[in-house]
Amino acid sequence: MTNTTPGTTASLKPRSTTTSVNDGEGCSPAPIGNNVAVPSRPSLSGTTVRLSLPNILTAIARNQSKRLGLTDLVHKIRGGLDRGGEDWSNRRLDAHAAHVLDIFQTMRTAVGNVTGRVGLELGPGDDVAVAYCFLKAGAKKMYTVERFDSVQLDERALKLFETLDRLLPGTVRAGDVAELRGGRLVLDANRLHHTVGLFEVSGVPEPVDFAYANDVAEHVDDPAVMFRATFAALKPNGCFVNNIDLAGHNAFSKTDRPLDFLTCPDWLWDLMFSHIVTTNRVRYSEFLRCARVAGFEIAKEDVLIRADETYLRQVRPDFIERYQRLADEDLAVIQCVLATVRAGNPLSGEC
Ligand SMILES: C[S@@+](CC[C@H](N)C(=O)[O-])C[C@H]1O[C@@H](n2cnc3c(N)ncnc32)[C@H](O)[C@@H]1O
Repeated sequence: MTNTTPGTTASLKPRSTTTSVNDGEGCSPAPIGNNVAVPSRPSLSGTTVRLSLPNILTAIARNQSKRLGLTDLVHKIRGGLDRGGEDWSNRRLDAHAAHVLDIFQTMRTAVGNVTGRVGLELGPGDDVAVAYCFLKAGAKKMYTVERFDSVQLDERALKLFETLDRLLPGTVRAGDVAELRGGRLVLDANRLHHTVGLFEVSGVPEPVDFAYANDVAEHVDDPAVMFRATFAALKPNGCFVNNIDLAGHNAFSKTDRPLDFLTCPDWLWDLMFSHIVTTNRVRYSEFLRCARVAGFEIAKEDVLIRADETYLRQVRPDFIERYQRLADEDLAVIQCVLATVRAGNPLSGEC
């Protein structure tokens, strides 16, 4: 467990699961200094928002420009893709492979033995390389479903698979599941099946043994719907693992002040982010509740990061009402790996 203490060098993200969106703003955490200033606190309609006025105005301007289609127009003219996560295509291959392996190891540990099994990844973002790692680990077939057409299937994607071949043991090699044809990487859909669309809508063509989502649950429109749809996609005893980043994103992406975004009233949040892919602000207890209501049993809760107690005590009075009602223990969860099982025979679940 890691505490995040304002003004210390504690890292909020033990893994490189940064979440940025295509809002031109990025989500890089602010640098951590020894004297982190308490941000100015504009008071709007009796609410104290923990974000400076210039940052609020910049976020509103970006969102409204996106709302009017101006940002998308410029983005498309520049050849950009719509995406709901970070763009890894311009990064070094080894850094990209490390990110993929990081997610794979976390998910693999939680899912257990995948030999001969069929798996599903929700929201892979830029690549289907984590799913490819599961094939290397023995999975029979992998499905991936991504909301945006952001998975890049090209020569670089093949190079990423080949890099993973060097780093990860396994009999499956890149050439077994993918082939370059005219600069485009064609996947063997019998092994690696990718669909573009909302998972809740598209689902998968066959029941799967396991499912996982990395940094996705905090972005879905409705976690209850996500858990229900995944429950329906799983075989009995199948498990669903979520790595969830419950910290602030976008303008509120501050490593040392991960909960400031809960001070933002909904009307202002909408002005700033209605057309930007950002966090849904759902808290930990609500994810647990949604999973249980969908029919899942909680197999394992691994809280990786908790907010510092002093910071939480300091910021709590400024939270909007629905977050004020929650317990400190709930609010403090900043990152967790949640493993759930569609119980049939509870003793035979892998998670
Ligand atoms: C923060 S990114 C994470 C990407 C990748 N899993 C990673 O960790 O690098 C969240 C991804 O989930 C996708 N997403 C969000 N809601 C989704 C949904 N309902 N169905 C499918 N994909 C979804 C987004 O488009 C985005 O690519």
